[in-house]
Amino acid sequence: MKSLISKYIDEIRNARIEDFKDKAAEVEQFRVRFLGRKGVMNELFEQFKALPNEQKKEMGIALNELKTAALAKVEEWKNYVEQSPELNDTHDLTMPADFYQRGSRHVLSVTMNEIAEIFARIGFTVEESVEIEDDWHLFSALNFPPDHPARDMQDTFFVQKEEGKTDVALRTHTSSVQVRVMETHKPPIRIIAPGRVFRNEAISARAHCIFHQVEALYVDKKVTFADLKQTLLYFAKEMFGEATQIRLRPSYFPFTEPSAEMDISCNICGGKGCNICKGTGWLEILGCGMVDPNVLEACGIDSKEYTGFALGMGVERMAMLKYQIRDLRLYFENDLRFLHQFDNII
Ligand code: DAH
Repeated sequence: MKSLISKYIDEIRNARIEDFKDKAAEVEQFRVRFLGRKGVMNELFEQFKALPNEQKKEMGIALNELKTAALAKVEEWKNYVEQSPELNDTHDLTMPADFYQRGSRHVLSVTMNEIAEIFARIGFTVEESVEIEDDWHLFSALNFPPDHPARDMQDTFFVQKEEGKTDVALRTHTSSVQVRVMETHKPPIRIIAPGRVFRNEAISARAHCIFHQVEALYVDKKVTFADLKQTLLYFAKEMFGEATQIRLRPSYFPFTEPSAEMDISCNICGGKGCNICKGTGWLEILGCGMVDPNVLEACGIDSKEYTGFALGMGVERMAMLKYQIRDLRLYFENDLRFLHQFDNII
């Protein structure tokens, strides 16, 4: 029995996985042969039981050595097979690939990126700023008179409004970023500011307390209303198609003078009149104007040397017109039936 055990131990120690052809299968055969229920080890143990007691000690040690050698070899080979992907490849290469549900960007992000790209092509860079703003950046520097309704709790979410303290509010518009940029940068300034804004509005199909705006600001020597008009025309055509026409109507904003609102020819009916443009053929899309000299001066820019234009638009409205979305609430409800309709826009 002793010589048989030695023979097995030698066999095990000399066995090389490199000599196996079908490695994973032959390792398994090897394991069954030595360590399986009817394998060499068990058979030898049966014989061992029948040995006279005085031989048991020596034989026991030899058997243990054999078992340890077999176990170590099997362990080593299994690791070898596992770490060799080519030996382990049981994949069915004809099987169709797994189906992954691809995520997609939100239609508002897509729209905001598109606006940013259109402006980037004519040299505007993106500025981001704080959503919690003080009175100065939201209103005072932008030439809002002290009794303007935007300063009222009815319209604005104040974080702090106390006699003798600075008013602090969730920003009601991204025009505040104009002030922050002009205070810290010398002209020429050519920026857009996309971001979230907050207003104290009851939520309905046409109003929401959270929405998004993109503000644009261009300040330099000799910037004129003609620059504004041309920029608006370029933007409208890029955003809504080459056939788009624009029209400017005089308007009023505290921070621009003169001010205007821009309409585009209705991209649904092509200007003939439909229920989206309420029969007028025109859709109002943004506010704009020449930066009021008071605003330039409040931000430390010499209004005799520099002029500028500004414009501000609602992102939800842009997306509504572009993709014919009828209800503002859809943007924020995250209903997958809504979101999946925009999977393929980038
Ligand atoms: N801040 C205005 C609003 O929230 C939008 C706006 C109008 C921005 C005219 C401008 C502008 O820069 O010139 O309604």
